[in-house]
Amino acid sequence: MTQDEQKRAAAAAAIEYVPAGSIVGVGTGSTANYFIDALAKIKNKIEGAVASSDATAQRLKQHGIEVMDLNNVSDIPVYIDGADEITENLHMIKGGGGALTREKIVAAVARKFICITDQSKLVNVLGNFPLPVEVSPMARSYVAREIVHLGGHPALRQGFITDNGNVILDVHGLSILNPVELEGTLNQITGVVTNGLFARRPANTLLLGTDNGVRTISL
Ligand code: A5P
Repeated sequence: MTQDEQKRAAAAAAIEYVPAGSIVGVGTGSTANYFIDALAKIKNKIEGAVASSDATAQRLKQHGIEVMDLNNVSDIPVYIDGADEITENLHMIKGGGGALTREKIVAAVARKFICITDQSKLVNVLGNFPLPVEVSPMARSYVAREIVHLGGHPALRQGFITDNGNVILDVHGLSILNPVELEGTLNQITGVVTNGLFARRPANTLLLGTDNGVRTISL
């Protein structure tokens, strides 16, 4: 299977995790887009969706799926999203598409996080993929210096502004042996809005598209 076929297979498998009548949390990126396309086929069985980015909201609406404001929603049974890297412990790096903050907010509300990826995303140690950190623009240089003290090499994502009006530092050169600790340490730097480590709230289940079908890993 090609990488795209693996993504599509994982996305299709996630439909089984969507309860009838529910409000679904929907992630951002190419794999999440395959999920939205699959969700459209059962749109009459759900109440609506909460989107993790403007791009996802637009795609959901194009498919005729109602997009709800998170502030008007108290229960999201499942959040379905991709990842840039994920370990067997279901810790992730996310934010390659720059939607990490809203993704983390919707994931926090959701009862279950179902991650959907192709097999290239499964790694032993996080950090080969540069870790995205969303930063308030005026704190960009300060936060970059603090990250250098932690051993990272931050690079400003050029020409990119998040849906929240912030910038992203992509941090290279990290071998993240303790993602739970680093997630907290980065969040303590003043000016950091959020970082792309999803370890304090890992996924509950990974649906991994492989050459031999979809493998399920659950905590
Ligand atoms: C978006 O900000 C990211 O967190 C995505 O979930 C991640 O980049 C995965 O994207 P793909 O599904 O396109 O690989």
